[in-house]
Amino acid sequence: MNDSITKSKVTPARILEIRRDFPVLERTIQDKPLAYLDNAASTQMPRQVIETVSAYHSFHHSNVHRGVHQLSQEATDLYEGAREKLRCFVGASSLKEIIFTSGTTDAINLIAHSWGGMNVAKDDVILISNMEHHANIVPWYMLAKRTGAQIQVIPILDDGSLDMNRFSELIQQPNVKAVCVNHVSNALGSVNPVEEVCRMSREKGIRTVIDGAQAIGHFPVDVRSIGADFYAFSGHKMHGPTGIGVLYGRQELLEEMGPYKGGGDMILSVSFDNISWNELPYKFEAGTPPISQAVGLGAAVDYLNGLDRQLLSSYEDELLAYTTRRLMEIPGMQLVGTAAKKVSLNSFVIKGVHPHDIGTILDGEGVAVRTGQHCAEPVMDRFCIPATTRASMAFYNTFEEIDQLTDALLKVTELFDVTD
Ligand code: ALA
Repeated sequence: MNDSITKSKVTPARILEIRRDFPVLERTIQDKPLAYLDNAASTQMPRQVIETVSAYHSFHHSNVHRGVHQLSQEATDLYEGAREKLRCFVGASSLKEIIFTSGTTDAINLIAHSWGGMNVAKDDVILISNMEHHANIVPWYMLAKRTGAQIQVIPILDDGSLDMNRFSELIQQPNVKAVCVNHVSNALGSVNPVEEVCRMSREKGIRTVIDGAQAIGHFPVDVRSIGADFYAFSGHKMHGPTGIGVLYGRQELLEEMGPYKGGGDMILSVSFDNISWNELPYKFEAGTPPISQAVGLGAAVDYLNGLDRQLLSSYEDELLAYTTRRLMEIPGMQLVGTAAKKVSLNSFVIKGVHPHDIGTILDGEGVAVRTGQHCAEPVMDRFCIPATTRASMAFYNTFEEIDQLTDALLKVTELFDVTD
C-alpha cells in the first residue's frame, strides 16, 4: 500500500462507500475496471440524483407555473424547491438572484447580452483572463463586435496562475466595464484569487463575471464572500444532470437588466402594442424550463450537503499531490499548470507523443481522460503547445486509479520509445 493511502485523512473504506453511490464507476471498459478521470468535462451522477429524476418523471411530471391541477403544483413545488436548495448552496440572499439556465455557457451569454447590451459601448474595455474557456470568451467577443468595445487579456504566469500585477495595472484604465475570470481553470486547474479580483474591481466600479463551472464540484462556494456581481456554473460539473445551470446575479443588477430570451413565463402581460416583463427570477426564464434537470440538480445539492465536503476537498488535494508525483516518474513528462493553488487536475504533454494517441491508448487500459484543447485554445497558445492530455479527478477517485493511469502512461512511453 502506498504512503498516500495510509496517511490520508479519508479512509479507503469511506471512498469505496461513496463510490457505491455511483453505478457507472462499477463498469469495465475493454475488460479493465473503469478509471474515470474526465470529471472536468462532466462529473458522474450518484443514484440518489438518478432516482430523483426518475421519480419526478414517473410520478410528478407536468408543466410549472401554469396549472391549477395537482400535478402542475407538485412540479412547480419541486422546481422552486430546487431553486431554494441552490440559493442556500451558494449563499445567495434571495431566490430572485438564482436564475436557472441551460448551463454556464447560457448563463454567460445571458450576461453578455442583457447586462453587456445596456452597459458596454464603443471603446469600453472588457478584461478577460488568458485562461478562460471559450464560454467566457466568445460571448464577450460577440458583444465587442456588436458595440465596438475592446477585449483586453489579463496574462497568466508560467506556472498557470493569474498575473495579478498586470491585472492591477489593467484596471487603472478609465473605461474598463467588466472583468471576466474563471474561479478554476478547466485546462490548468489553477484556483484564481477571485475574492481579490472582485474586491479590486469593485473599488474601481467594474463589474465581475466569475465562471464557477470548474470550482463548484470541488469545494464549497459562497458568492457573497467572493463578492462577485455574477457567478455562473453548470449542474453536470457538480454531479447533477446536463442541460441545467445557474446564474447567480446581484439582485440590483438583475433588476436593471432587460430580458435575454423572449417567450412564455418571462412576461406579465402581452399585447401586440406592449409587453411587460415578469419579476425576477422569471424575467430570465422564457418558455418551459428544464424542470426535471432542476429537480435533479436539487438532489445533487442534497447529496453534496450530505458529504463532508471540506474533508473530501483535502482528500482531493492528497490525490493531486500523488498524481503529480507519479506523473513526474513518466519519461518525457511536462506538466502544464503548476500553480500553488490547484484543484485535483493535471494537464500534461509527453515529449513526441500526440495527446490523442495517449487518450486512445489510455482508453484501451480503461482510463478515461480528455485530450485536446479543452475548449481553451488561448491557453494552448500561451504555452505554445497544440493540445494536452488532462486527468481530472473527483472525490470518488482512488490512488489505485492514479496507478492505473500511470501504468498505462508507461505503456505509452514504451510503445513510442520515449526515454527522457
Ligand atoms: N469545459 C469542459 C471541459 O473542460 C467541457 O472539458
